[in-house]
Amino acid sequence: MSVTKEIKRITTETLRKMKFEGEKISMLTAYDFTIATLVDKAGTEVILVGDSAANVMAGHETTLPITLDQMIYHSQCVVRGAKRALVVVDLPFGTYQSDPQRALDSAIRIMKESGAHAIKLEGGEEVAESIRRIVNAGIPVMGHLGLTPQSIYQFGSYKVRAKDDAEAQKLLDDAKLLEELGCFSLVMEKIPAGLATKVTESISIPTIGIGAGNGCDGQVLVVHDMLGLNNEFKPKFVRKYLNLEDQVVEAIGQYVADIKSTDFPNSNEQY
Ligand code: KIV
Repeated sequence: MSVTKEIKRITTETLRKMKFEGEKISMLTAYDFTIATLVDKAGTEVILVGDSAANVMAGHETTLPITLDQMIYHSQCVVRGAKRALVVVDLPFGTYQSDPQRALDSAIRIMKESGAHAIKLEGGEEVAESIRRIVNAGIPVMGHLGLTPQSIYQFGSYKVRAKDDAEAQKLLDDAKLLEELGCFSLVMEKIPAGLATKVTESISIPTIGIGAGNGCDGQVLVVHDMLGLNNEFKPKFVRKYLNLEDQVVEAIGQYVADIKSTDFPNSNEQY
């Protein structure tokens, strides 16, 4: 008799319950099978296949260039590695803003072709009809307010958003609207901690913060940032749990030196 321990998948209902019970939610990005496997094994509840793949995987300056096909490819790789986590995939720029039917078609492609469990999109009232259509099709939607990187050219910088009363009020109204439309969760990026706490207390769906303080129901970081894979990128909200850039460069430098000195491979490392 084989005894295989069944792994219970995290669902949107699990997250709702976590908020209700006051248990914080952890979320990290992943874009490939190997990292997804590790993030999942470590117990992260939600894996986000973020369009930040455009930055950290492809080297683009913004998230705008990544395509739906590329997001689907990354999502397929992540889904194969995530045995327990809920996998959420970003709808990339240009695949949902123009009209609700296009938004629904994009979301359906992600769900059908990658096997992911939910999608995320940026914006509030402006994309309300798209959210309604996607939710009505049975696809779980995570919202994203505050610093929404797909609007970077409108913002002009990656500075903290919603510092003035008008923008803060719009964010609060948008958060309530997203809840009404049936979003299961909401990311808030780079906004004052006080505002993020107020939003979190005003809605019943879980909020996930990035640069939004400790009052959110959960936290998300880009996995490359928290592993310290890029020494040049050091915003205040990132806590680096490793310094992998230095360690990786040192290890690879040693490999190069070992080849040059003919130390590698040695007699135990050959056939
Ligand atoms: O694309 C991404 O990685 C994100 C997170 C920063 C929330 O949207």
